[in-house]
Amino acid sequence: MNLADLNKVALAMVTPGKGILAADESSGTIKKRFDAIKVDSTEDNRRDYREMLFRSQEAMSKYISGVILYDETIWQNAKDGTPLVKLIEQAGAIPGIKVDEGTQPLPNCPGELVTVGLDRLAERLKKYYERGARFAKWRAVIDIGSGAGSRGIPTMTAIRVNAHALARYAALCQAAQIVPIVEPEVLMDGDHDIDRCYEVTQRVLNRTFQELRVQRVALEGMILKPNMAISGKKCPKQASVQEVAEKTVRLLKSCVPAAVPGIAFLSGGQSDEEATAHLDAMNKIGHLPWRLTFSYGRALQAAPQKAWSGKPENVPAGQRAFSHRAQMNGLASTGKWDAGLEKQAA
Ligand code: 13P
Repeated sequence: MNLADLNKVALAMVTPGKGILAADESSGTIKKRFDAIKVDSTEDNRRDYREMLFRSQEAMSKYISGVILYDETIWQNAKDGTPLVKLIEQAGAIPGIKVDEGTQPLPNCPGELVTVGLDRLAERLKKYYERGARFAKWRAVIDIGSGAGSRGIPTMTAIRVNAHALARYAALCQAAQIVPIVEPEVLMDGDHDIDRCYEVTQRVLNRTFQELRVQRVALEGMILKPNMAISGKKCPKQASVQEVAEKTVRLLKSCVPAAVPGIAFLSGGQSDEEATAHLDAMNKIGHLPWRLTFSYGRALQAAPQKAWSGKPENVPAGQRAFSHRAQMNGLASTGKWDAGLEKQAA
């Protein structure tokens, strides 16, 4: 492992003013997104859609530091035969790859999941590196139980097993000279309040960093992709932007060592503007030991998907929508966003 080079890539991924486009939806997830805009999820349509994003010159060159791809996409070529990976590189962004193989039910823990994909990961990483990937992603999913008797979920078992797998993946990535994005996602789907999210996320992050240390992962050569401390979607009391920002910063300061070069949040089901406002408010607080930016999927793509709707004549509109969200989040990554900028664009 060459740690200096891993660190260089990690820092480039969190360049101030830029963030990561998570375009790594699995075939099942992209089908759901396409169903919503009434587009058939064929291989060509998936290619055309992602080609539209990666050819958005303004967004890609100014506001996007890296793109997380799905296995199908990393091997795909644009309509003119150029590998999609090359389009990303030509725009000055870094190609990355999702390497987990989804989740399976966790034995003995009803309702909980474990992320799989460690078998043969070393060989797969080698091929991805040859194709141009310089970073990878693995997502662990931790649910917070809803309703009566929900205090039991997440179990310590789910937290430990997933943290162990994240660290195994991260160590394998670094051995393959690939920067691991370590993503332990605590879902915001339940009716829990922000303080319960805080408490669970703290347990998850502490356990994750404990495992990373045990498995000798070099913190300077990784990026953390966490959820924010945020109210569950079904919680009647929704925390304000300022409360989310303050609690998330406090939480991360208590759990994430300063050796980690950067933290790139997932959006997790927040609205486009909420995801931007939260990131901006955190960066306005400032005085942070690591760079804070975005690694959004839905919060960057919902608008361009709608504008495109599968029609070739809508490509410019889709690219404009993508550029706008990318720019807003780019500004938020340095605390320079303002809600007024959204209205100007509308
Ligand atoms: P969302 O921003 O839509 O949560 O997706 C980010 C991601 O990569 C989840 O793994």
